[in-house]
Amino acid sequence: MTAELIDGKGIAKQIQRELTEEVAHLRETHGIEPGLATVLVGDNPASKTYVRMKQRRCEEVGIHSVGYTLPADATQAEVEALVSQLNADPTINGILVQLPLPGQLDEEAVLNAISLEKDVDGFHPLNIGRLAMKGREPLFTPCTPTGIIELIDRTGVQIEGQEAVILGRSNIVGLPVSMMLLKRNATITICHSRTRELAEITRRADILIAAVGRAEMVKGDWIKPGSLVIDVGINRVEDDTRKRGYRLVGDVDFAEAVEVAAHITPVPGGVGPMTIAMLLKNTVTGAKHAAGLL
Ligand code: GUN
Repeated sequence: MTAELIDGKGIAKQIQRELTEEVAHLRETHGIEPGLATVLVGDNPASKTYVRMKQRRCEEVGIHSVGYTLPADATQAEVEALVSQLNADPTINGILVQLPLPGQLDEEAVLNAISLEKDVDGFHPLNIGRLAMKGREPLFTPCTPTGIIELIDRTGVQIEGQEAVILGRSNIVGLPVSMMLLKRNATITICHSRTRELAEITRRADILIAAVGRAEMVKGDWIKPGSLVIDVGINRVEDDTRKRGYRLVGDVDFAEAVEVAAHITPVPGGVGPMTIAMLLKNTVTGAKHAAGLL
């Protein structure tokens, strides 16, 4: 069996096209221009790249984006003062504080300071709390998990009643995607660094989500034949045949997995592009909320 590829890059582009139309419509008929503020603290190269990509995509769809950069030694008070200023700014509908923050900062307090209505990352404790609870709905859900659910839905594979195994329990991906799958009535198992007999658990998965950051850890014989595999990992492995000296691989051994699964996301071009598409979508939703259109 050769799995069908889930084209995250193409789907993200399609979503961006739809958002471009929607933003133009909002401007023409309601005079609304959605706005996103990005906050980068320090000069982590990966974070800088991600923030730049987020800003560029905003411009492409017509969302106005404003970037703030604070020095690596910024104080808690400085970061929170910037967040307060953005909370009060009516031209801003979404506030994105790029994570991770430098060690001296209290991440929870910073995320808590973001106005619930502008929490387009979905990391505010109240939004996460609502996500974790039955019968409650968050205003926003985190971008990578939301993108994963969108990719699963577009394969036509139903989530309800399926065994979903999630490798990784990070606040950004593993934990929230587990909560979202649970809300959709999957039976979830969350695995982490202390889990024993990993492969035995993953082999039960109708839906397997790998988000641990370990290059090609999930082998073909860890995968249930005919299952759906979502690979969130983006890992650099040395490769002298490439000009830049490395290539990107996921947490799943793609060459093996593609022979076993029915659907699989590639790396790159799978989950990655969906994260930004969902951020843009959340920002447009924030603008519609602020204008009383939702
Ligand atoms: N760092 C890695 N992923 C994310 C994300 O989705 N949002 C933010 N704010 N920081 C991140």
